[in-house]
Parts: sequence; structure tokens; C-alpha cells
Amino acid sequence: MSTAKERTSTKSTDVNAVNLKAIDLDSIDTVNPAPAEEPARQYYFMKKCREIIRERELEDGRRQTANVTTFGCQMNAKDSEKLRGILDVIGFERTESEEADLCLYNTCTVRENANLKVYGHLGYLSNLKKKNPRMIIGLCGCMMQEPDVVEKLKKSYRFVNLIFGTHNIFRFAELLYQVLEGQQMIIDIWQDTDKIVEDLPADRTYSFKCGVNIMYGCNNFCTYCIVPYVRGRERSRRPEDILCEVERLATDGVIEVMLLGQNVNSYGKTLDEPISFAELLKMVEQVPGIERIRFMTSHPKDLSDELIAVMKQSSKICCHLHLPLQSGSSRILKKMNRRYTKEQYLALADRLRREIPDLSITTDIIVGFPGETEEDFQETLDVVRKVRFDSAFTFIYSKRTGTPAAAMEDQVPDDIVKDRFNRLLTLVQTISQEMSKRVEGQTLPVLVESVNDHDDSLVTGRLSNNLLVHFPGGRDLIGKIVDVHLTECKGFYYMGEMSCETMEEDLDDHQSGIVF
Ligand code: 5AD
Ligand code: SF4
Repeated sequence: MSTAKERTSTKSTDVNAVNLKAIDLDSIDTVNPAPAEEPARQYYFMKKCREIIRERELEDGRRQTANVTTFGCQMNAKDSEKLRGILDVIGFERTESEEADLCLYNTCTVRENANLKVYGHLGYLSNLKKKNPRMIIGLCGCMMQEPDVVEKLKKSYRFVNLIFGTHNIFRFAELLYQVLEGQQMIIDIWQDTDKIVEDLPADRTYSFKCGVNIMYGCNNFCTYCIVPYVRGRERSRRPEDILCEVERLATDGVIEVMLLGQNVNSYGKTLDEPISFAELLKMVEQVPGIERIRFMTSHPKDLSDELIAVMKQSSKICCHLHLPLQSGSSRILKKMNRRYTKEQYLALADRLRREIPDLSITTDIIVGFPGETEEDFQETLDVVRKVRFDSAFTFIYSKRTGTPAAAMEDQVPDDIVKDRFNRLLTLVQTISQEMSKRVEGQTLPVLVESVNDHDDSLVTGRLSNNLLVHFPGGRDLIGKIVDVHLTECKGFYYMGEMSCETMEEDLDDHQSGIVF
């Protein structure tokens, strides 16, 4: 018998932020009914879950483990940090292995192969569950917002315990509690929301850099894209809430923030007191301790003069702009509903290159959009040659059910698309290698992120323009910005050496006991 619960829509107002630090789980009385307001309600359920998890630890004589696997973009990575933070509070021990007591997939559905990957993994999880019948399998994220997917899971993947979508991840603790109580398959999908719940726990992947959501959803409805259907309408967070989060992160040792949104250039337009993205950037720049600011993603149609001016003046905003092109053909761009022409994109890129010469411009390009001819494709190659992208993500058009492009005639045959894709890839890679070389021989600041994966005498860091640099150094450099001489460009990354001055400063810092 199914105990599936479904909720298809909700509308409610914003929830006031509550200071996370003020909430002490031990002081919550779980004998009383759950509070109605958020996020207090979720803390109540975190405590309820923790009680059950402690019982299970005693029964099994070991800690309960949890794995969260992320598919897709930076927004999903950010959501996964929130999910892991909740699991930590509940008392799960984190594991990289899917052989865990709880396994949660945060899914993506931008292209079909992202969906196929999830179904593939589910087969593996069902085998693991045979060995550990109490294992909890959960699915959330964009793919769950598609009704067909949920129907298929309900029919053929009955071993999945928990399904929820993008609008209600803040309810994770409450839903998990229902599963822990023994309900078989909990499904909670909201069609849309205007609710932004702040101040739930989050686990940060890095101690020194962090993504910050500044807005959710997208109103652009590019005709190939499923995002507006699965992430809902555009909602901007209030600047004071964003700044409060950035300040808290800075106090906690974060020096680089990445401001996240599907279309950051339209940030703030729908707020009660509208402000522009450029204004928000100026405010974030003022936060003491923040040394680098990145943002993702910019829509070319909304990129303002004001933003270019702010980027140009700033010493903190990184020298990198991701500016998706999608196609170089004005005819295809129109069919894609991108609302700019080839000429407008070229003029914008030209202006950016002139105003900010060091700027790294990266992009996304789709090949094989319905009706794309060889002439259209040549226009794309032409833009690639003219703009000389520092790097480009290239995608084969993927038909997403429910989007206008899926119903368009003239879907391009696979062999033609593959051939175009290969030609495009060769061109973007050649140019990207040439562009990467631009800073060879210079000494530039690098934020050190980790010990090198292959050689532990090296550390790996990122330039402001987002290129990776490997250079000799120790673990103590992680999270610091150091000057590195870029000795050799190896295609898409650099080998370097820490500059003598930085090494001396570093030594002084150790001697004087300063810890960053
Ligand atoms: N097919 C192929 N690529 C797509 N993208 C979005 N939707 C599709 C699709 N249906 C690409 C776009 C976008 C990036 C995140 O994914 O290039 O910028
Ligand atoms: Fe999709 Fe276009 Fe919105 Fe980007 S701007 S998320 S491509 S609809």
C-alpha cells in the first residue's frame, strides 16, 4: 500500500530570518506539537530525527552514515551544502560512499543524459538496499519537478523512500522524519513558491570560499530550457539578507564568495525596493574580509553599462565573466528566445574586451538546436573566432519535454549534430589554449584551494580569471591568496612558483604567529 503524499502547489509569504546561532536543538521541546513558523519548524523536526538516529546508533552499535551526491550546476552544489548541513545536525556521519544508511541524489534535468545517469545509479542503489533493508534512498532537485519522472519512480522504483523538489528543500528534515517514522514513499513536490526560507544549517565544502544564492528561478523561457519550469519564477533575496549571510561567512573565514542565480543581471528588479545587480556587488565589496567576488550566470541581454563600470573599478570582483552565447546565428537566437542578435553579442564582447582587457570571457554554446543549418552553425564558429572565448562549455541540444523547442520541426539528425559538435570543440579548444597562455610569465594572486590530487608536494589554486595553477607548496597555504609566478602554461592550466616576496611574508606571518 502506498503512503505517498503529494502536494501540488503552495503560495505563501516570505519567512523572517532567524539567527541560526540562536537556535539550540537541545532546548527544543519535542513533546509539544511542531511550531508552524519556519525555520523553527524544521529545527523541531531535526531534533525529532536526531532522537531516532540516536536509537538506531544504539541498535546497530555504530554511527548512521549519509551520502549526498550532486548532479548538475552550482545551484545544486549549493543546495547540497544545505542538505548536508541538515544531515550533520541530525547526527549522520558523512560518507563519500553510496553504501550508506541514507543516500540522497540531488538531481539535474537540463539535458536528458543527466536524467539517464540518475536512473542508472538507482539500479545500483537498489542492490545496496537489498544488503541494508533499512537504507533510506532519497531523490530531490530539478528532475523531481517533472511529473513524468515522478510517475515513473512511483511505478517502477518503489524502493525509493523520499522524493522532493527544488522549492521545498528547506523541508528536508520534516520529510525525512516521516520516512524515519516508517512511511514507505514520501513525495512532496511543489509547483512553485514565493517562499525563501533563510537560516537553515549548511555545511560548507570549502572553509574559505562559498556560494551565496542571490536569487532563485528564471523568467527568461529560452525555448530549449527546462529550468524555468523546474526552478520556477525569478525571486530575488533581499539585499540585507544577502549581506547578512556574506558578513557571517566572512567572520567564519570565507574570503571568496560566488553570487549565484540563473540570471544575476536581472537581480533585484522584482524587489519591493528594486536595486540593480551592480549595486548589490558594490555592497558585497564593502564586507570586511571578502577579498574575491565571483558571480554566475549573466544573460547578455541584461548586462548593463553600470555592471561593466563596477567590474572595471573593483579590485575584488574577479576577472571572469561567464556570458552564455548559445548560438551565433541571429535567426537561431530568435528561435531560442534569447532576445539578442549576433551583432549585439559581438558588440558587447568587444566592449568588454576593450574596457577590461584582462577579463576572461567564458561561454555556453548549444549545437543542433532545431532548424540549425550549416550556415547557422558557421555563424556560431564566426562568433567563437571573433570573441576568442577563454573557455567554452559546448552542448549537444537535448530535447526537453514541455519546452517549446521540443515541439519544433526540423530536429537536426544526430550524425550532423555530432560532426558540428566535434568541429566546434576543436575550434574552442584551440582558441582556449591560446587565450590561456595570455598571462604566462606574469606573477599573479592565486587563491590556494587544495593539495594537488596527483602530487602532494604541490598545491592547486585559482587565478582571478578562474584558471587553475599548480605549484610547490604545503597544506598550510590552503585558503590563502599568494602571489605565484606563472612559469608554464600547460594548455588549460599553469605550473608556477610562489613568488619570493610572498614566501618571505608567509615566513614572517608564521614567526609573528599571525594566522589567517
Ligand atoms: N540542451 C542542451 N543544452 C542545454 N542547456 C540548457 N538547456 C539545454 C538543452 N535543452 C545548456 C545551456 C545553458 C547551460 C547551463 O546548459 O547552454 O547555458
Ligand atoms: Fe535556461 Fe535561459 Fe533561464 Fe538560462 S536564462 S536558465 S538558459 S531559460
